[in-house]
Amino acid sequence: MKADTNPTGGSTAADWLTPSQSSIVREWLSRMSLDQKIGQMTQTERMAAEPDELKAFHLGSILSGAGSRPEGNTPADWVAMNDAYWTASMAADGDHLPIPLLYGIDAIHGNNNVRGATIFPHNIGLGAANDGALLARVAAVTKREILAAGVEWTFAPTVAVAQDYRWGRTYESYSSDTDLVTRYGHQFVTELQGDLQDDSVIACAKHFIGDGATTHGIDQGDADLTEAKLTATHLPPFKAAIDAGVLTVMASFNSWNGDKCHGHEYLLSTLLKGRLGFGGLVISDWDGIDYLSDDYTEAIALSVNAGVDLFMVSEAWREFIAGLKRNVLEGRVPITRINDAVSRILGVKVKWGLFDRPRPAERPWSDHASFGSAAHREVARDAVRKSLVLLKNEGDLLPLDSSATILVCGRNANNVGHQCGGFSLDWQGTDGNSLIEGGTSIWQGISDYTPGAELSTDPLAADADPNRHKLAVAVIGETPYAEGMGDIRASDNVLVEAGSRIRGSMKVLEPYGGSLELAKLHPEDLALLRSLAGRGIPTVAILLSGRPLVVNPELAAASAFVAAWLPGSEGKGVADVLFGEVDFSGRLPFAWPEDESDVPADGTKNPLFPRGYGLSLDG
Ligand code: BGC
Repeated sequence: MKADTNPTGGSTAADWLTPSQSSIVREWLSRMSLDQKIGQMTQTERMAAEPDELKAFHLGSILSGAGSRPEGNTPADWVAMNDAYWTASMAADGDHLPIPLLYGIDAIHGNNNVRGATIFPHNIGLGAANDGALLARVAAVTKREILAAGVEWTFAPTVAVAQDYRWGRTYESYSSDTDLVTRYGHQFVTELQGDLQDDSVIACAKHFIGDGATTHGIDQGDADLTEAKLTATHLPPFKAAIDAGVLTVMASFNSWNGDKCHGHEYLLSTLLKGRLGFGGLVISDWDGIDYLSDDYTEAIALSVNAGVDLFMVSEAWREFIAGLKRNVLEGRVPITRINDAVSRILGVKVKWGLFDRPRPAERPWSDHASFGSAAHREVARDAVRKSLVLLKNEGDLLPLDSSATILVCGRNANNVGHQCGGFSLDWQGTDGNSLIEGGTSIWQGISDYTPGAELSTDPLAADADPNRHKLAVAVIGETPYAEGMGDIRASDNVLVEAGSRIRGSMKVLEPYGGSLELAKLHPEDLALLRSLAGRGIPTVAILLSGRPLVVNPELAAASAFVAAWLPGSEGKGVADVLFGEVDFSGRLPFAWPEDESDVPADGTKNPLFPRGYGLSLDG
């Protein structure tokens, strides 16, 4: 059964458009050669194709991979870059049709690649806030900052329902609670795409499906679960995103019971396009088809026939184009499938109004003054306030006394890069305060409140003086990571075991560590807390992390303990809550484990703190 036959009677790409939009799509399709159609199905990275190559090969889309940014990296630089690609895509001559390209980016917590952007808490923090109105404000600012860069498409929201905290992408998941992810997914798409007018950005629900369900939380691993469980836990957010009109969906790297999603006709065509009636385009993840087969031509055929429409090919786009053409000419990929894929891509372009919009340099929001503005940062600061979860407050150490001399210490105290986590300027995040401009570190936020704050950069705060420092704030936790490089893996046996069912191959990355225990990952944090406790200085521990960690000894050593997740560029939001300007309202979006055997989330029997837990200052 082929993808374009719509086996389950759901809507087709054609039903999804108005009659006049459909006829525009049909008209373009009828004028396109096979080369033009195949080019339209190809997306590559900005570093891999110049505008003249885009025109020569009729490429339909360009992306900036995480951390890939033009020289200068201001919104104006982005607009100029996108404008050059747009101009090439719109050239009309005997060989080329003027079909505007789509430019896609990973704006997953604000437009996080661009210099001076407002960077929001990662999704896990927004999940802790559990506040739909806040999420709508976050999405509205994100949308404006994407448009300011002259870009029309973000690969967000991630609607993974993460189960095992060893997964390095746990922080991209709002929660282990399907209902929360479903509500948020719907809301984020609704706010981003809006009525598809000027003030709108194309969303992408990702990664379809089961990315958060892999055994041992191995990134790109195998989701070993029944269809009933897959449907109950991981499908609802996609359904909600489709109900909200999401225009694009990204296939997931992982496999389901051994079969890769990128080559899964049942998942992509029968379920997503058929049963759920998704009429938009399915994009493959970064070289995601490469792992289907050692034979690239075969991998292309498997994925196109399964239902992938647009192919994210980081560099080898010429090979992809040649391989897809060979597949069509030799009968392995029916032309009906090509026509369906191109119709879906053109359908997204028509529906978003891409053909009618001015060039990026002339769009109303391009290089807009609101980018990185105080008003935008205020929304991010509010998101930070609402995302913090108070786990302990012995002796009412919080709120902080602003008349006291407070020692601020810990590796993450004065480090905006660490606060932002992965996917912030660079794919794996950054270190220090210089690259992420316009924000404030947690230390800067605290020192704005009180002239009595002092920063210690000594790893053990050896300069702490119990006679002067009435209390300390220690900012501890993880350092930035992204994707598989954030995985926690006890040994490679686990990987072999978890991947052994997978048909095809698996990309294996160096993990972040071997344990979920903070004391093993970062023993220096416990040493710092114990050093302060040894001097009799009561300490508030602020944990920066992309997931719940096992922190029993750190909790015991600190008088107060705050899970701050990855709060982003606005460290002032942390200070607002510490000083009691606003109360703690965040609640755990994932159960907090007492030991490593307490994960995965849905298997947690005796968590230290259940999902939904969180203290307030007013009791
Ligand atoms: C990630 C996607 C991302 C893509 C483009 C991949 O490695 O899995 O989430 O959208 O890269 O940067």
